Amino acid sequence: MLLDIENISVKYGNAPKPTIENFSLKMKEGEIVSIVGESGSGKTTVIRAVLGLLPGGGRVTEGDILFEGKSLLGYSKKQWLDLRGSHISMIFQDSGAMINPIRKIGSLYVDYIRNHKKVSKKEAWDMGCAMLERMRLPSADNVMKSYPFQLSGGMRQRVGIAMAMTFEPKLLLADEPTSALDVTTQAQIVRQMMELRDEFGTAIIIVTHNIGVAAYMGDEIVVMQNGKVVDRGDRDHILHHADDEYTRELMRSVPTLEGLRYV
Ligand SMILES: Nc1ncnc2c1ncn2[C@@H]1O[C@H](COP(=O)(O)OP(=O)(O)OP(=O)(O)O)[C@@H](O)[C@H]1O
Ligand SMILES: [Mg+2]
Repeated sequence: MLLDIENISVKYGNAPKPTIENFSLKMKEGEIVSIVGESGSGKTTVIRAVLGLLPGGGRVTEGDILFEGKSLLGYSKKQWLDLRGSHISMIFQDSGAMINPIRKIGSLYVDYIRNHKKVSKKEAWDMGCAMLERMRLPSADNVMKSYPFQLSGGMRQRVGIAMAMTFEPKLLLADEPTSALDVTTQAQIVRQMMELRDEFGTAIIIVTHNIGVAAYMGDEIVVMQNGKVVDRGDRDHILHHADDEYTRELMRSVPTLEGLRYV
């Protein structure tokens, strides 16, 4: 098993009640799991827990998270730093907002690579360019010399994916990676993420509001509401046999992609 989240509860600060209760998820290499649910249902909290990056005094109070059989909960700061970016990486809703706006992509990318690997600046630059090309960004050298605001939202998101994939992590956590994009660009990014599994064997957790994207990408779909799993299953189950009323309601709101439904 690549990732085994066993019955975790997560609490923030001194909240009396856990935000997440009894959440479990098992993932094999190359598997794609979609997490859907309304705003505030706890999707981001779950994936931040996996990366050990819970803000606001958030912590796992019950259960365990195993990555390649090892519990992450006892990890030291140094072990987390070694893990993040190399074995597990994350992409965000708007990579543009995450990227420092006053620095050029190339300088950020070179620093990112050199934080993880002992290579020269020139080697890091070449690694960055090669990865941007693999993510099909045209003229990688120009992208490296650009400020984030000079790129479109779709290009910034591809840069975010390229950075996250630099060290070929086994697990990619994607939090609403397409929500800030128009539908055409959204479809391109969705397809590109699917190709990561084929090319690199990456397992992916994709968090999305869009049950169409969730069903299109996910081998398994997990539906959350109020910090709990209310439904889960494969595409067919969620689309056609969901017995949970909330899932059926979500299904009725599947958005269309230029007139075509994703699913
Ligand atoms: N930094 C924080 N400090 C305290 N409580 C938090 C914090 N972040 C989230 N929470 C609590 O956890 C709940 C779930 O938040 P979370 O961000 O995981 O939801 P989400 O499903 O990702 O929502 P969205 O779709 O809006 O991104 C929130 O309703 C809030 O009560
Ligand atoms: Mg969220």
